[in-house]
Amino acid sequence: MAKLRVGILISGRGSNMAALIRAADEPDYPAEIACVVSNIADAPGLGIADKAGVATAVVSHQGYPNRESFDRVLSTTLERHGVELVALAGFMRILDRWFVERWAGRLINIHPSLLPAFKGRQVERQTIEAGVRISGCTVHLVVPDLDAGPIVAQAAVPVLPGDTEQMLSARILRQEHHLYPLVVRWFAEGRVVETDRGVEVKGVAPGGTLLFSTEP
Ligand code: GRF
Repeated sequence: MAKLRVGILISGRGSNMAALIRAADEPDYPAEIACVVSNIADAPGLGIADKAGVATAVVSHQGYPNRESFDRVLSTTLERHGVELVALAGFMRILDRWFVERWAGRLINIHPSLLPAFKGRQVERQTIEAGVRISGCTVHLVVPDLDAGPIVAQAAVPVLPGDTEQMLSARILRQEHHLYPLVVRWFAEGRVVETDRGVEVKGVAPGGTLLFSTEP
C-alpha cells in the first residue's frame, strides 16, 4: 500500500522532525517524509533532514505583504512534494485561516503541555509557575485559534520538585518523540476520524491515546 506523504514544517532544531524521519526509516512504517520546509534559512533541523536524504525547502516569511501570501507559497511548496498530511514541529509562525482551511483535518501540531492548559509560548515556565504536578504533550488538529484544535493524543509526565524549565522540557520532549510518530502512524492507517465530540482514533483501545511516563 502507498505510504502517506508527510510534510514537516520547522523553524528550529527539529528534534520532533528527526523522530518522524527515524520512524519513517522503518520499512513497515506506513508514512514517508515527503519534505521538510523551514521558514528560517539556518534552522539546524534542515541539516539533519538533508543528511537523512529528505527533500528540504526554505520559505522565508519575510518579504511577503501579508500572512496569507506567505501561507500560499508554503502550501504550494507542500503540494509540489505531494504532501497529504502536514505536521508542524516547532514551526514558529501562526498560520493564516486560509492555510488552516486548505489543510483542514490534515494539519497537526505538537505542543509541550496537556492542552487546553498552558497555550502559547514559554510553556514549561507557565507549567512550573502554576505548580501543577503533571504535564506532558499534546498532538492536536490545527484550527485557526492558537493551540485549540481537537486533541488526537496526549502523553503525560510528572512535574518534579526542583524542576527547571530545561529539565521539564527534556522530560516532555522524550515523550513527544514517541507520541508524534505514533499519531502520524494512526493518520497513515486511516484511524483518525473527526466526530462531533472531537477526534476518535479507531481500533485503538480506550486509553490508548494517553501515554503516561513516570520516568524522572
Ligand atoms: C517542541 O517542544 C514542540 O512541542 C513545540 O516546539 C518544540 C519543538 O522542538 N511545538 P523541536 O524543534 O522539535 O526539537
